[in-house]
Amino acid sequence: MATVHINHAARATERRPGSPPAGPQRPALEFTPALAREMEPLYQRVKHVVTPMEWVQYAPLVKEINELKAQRNAVILAHNYMTPEIFHCVGDFRGDSLQLAREAARVEADVIVQAGVHFMAETSKLMNPDKTVLIPDLEAGCSLASSITGADVRMLREAYPGVPIVTYVNTSADVKAESDICCTSSNAVKVVESLGVPRVLLIPDEFLAKWVATQTKVEIIAWKGHCEVHERFTPEELLAFRAADPGTKIIAHPECPPEVIEVADFTGSTAAMIDWVKGKRPRKVLLVTECSMSSNVAAEVPDVEFVRPCNLCPHMKRISLEKIRDSLLYLQHEVTVDPMIAERARRAVERMVNLTN
Ligand code: 13P
Ligand code: SF4
Repeated sequence: MATVHINHAARATERRPGSPPAGPQRPALEFTPALAREMEPLYQRVKHVVTPMEWVQYAPLVKEINELKAQRNAVILAHNYMTPEIFHCVGDFRGDSLQLAREAARVEADVIVQAGVHFMAETSKLMNPDKTVLIPDLEAGCSLASSITGADVRMLREAYPGVPIVTYVNTSADVKAESDICCTSSNAVKVVESLGVPRVLLIPDEFLAKWVATQTKVEIIAWKGHCEVHERFTPEELLAFRAADPGTKIIAHPECPPEVIEVADFTGSTAAMIDWVKGKRPRKVLLVTECSMSSNVAAEVPDVEFVRPCNLCPHMKRISLEKIRDSLLYLQHEVTVDPMIAERARRAVERMVNLTN
């Protein structure tokens, strides 16, 4: 196989001005036969979804990241939307937003690298105020998180006095601090019903709120936020896949529009979607969610065929092996939360975690 030379010295000089000084200097790694042999067990995990040519580029970085994790006493929390070489080969804890929030509360390492988006890293920081929490790319945001501010939530509280505010974890710490309790798509119904009231505000995802309203007698008041990935799916495109092969199962995330959820065979969080596929083993399935998740599940269930209208989250896709390596090497980019905000935001996350533990 070809030899790939990773030139760290060149990378180090390309760092943005103002980024932290270089950490430990390391020799560049090459894809040698010895490295290929050493990394073979990890390649076995992704061989159905990563080509040998791609592995030539990934393997040296995977090795380097796993060594840096040991040196830094670090762990990587990887969301289900990470690409397979990240998810399966360097992620220490993998899962949906709820699973990652729970893991964040239990982490014993000194450093947490969030292979996900900024609100997830903030949640990890809230649960670990004394640890170093890093995000490999500070620009990894979320259209839902940017759809609402703390001031908006204060305005809602005035407009609906006495109505509890449930906030999706896909929000900034500022927004969480203004809310009574958080939820994820895994536990939204349970959280809403735990409050024992006839009416709640469930913000900011309008479609998640509408889906929860179909699952409970509690009246749900929504906000107009949308996920830019899930809002793009249409029932027409999904029905065309099913028409081409009527055995195709359609599994949707609750951030999808109601008319998409209506044509789905099952709706649930990313973790629930994965459990459904692993449990039911359909011949052919269409996961109506971010595209990389299909690859991650396909790596584990090669007997299932995945059809994909491939919608990628531009924020999740900012996270790469190179950036994770640099994050560990230079301890960048540290995520911090104002302690005044953090205390109140932590309470909302902890109420959720305690409820669903
Ligand atoms: P879950 O992993 O909690 O289902 O959330 C999906 C999502 O869009 C996260 O950004
Ligand atoms: Fe936000 Fe949607 Fe991307 Fe998740 S997939 S991070 S909800 S924009």
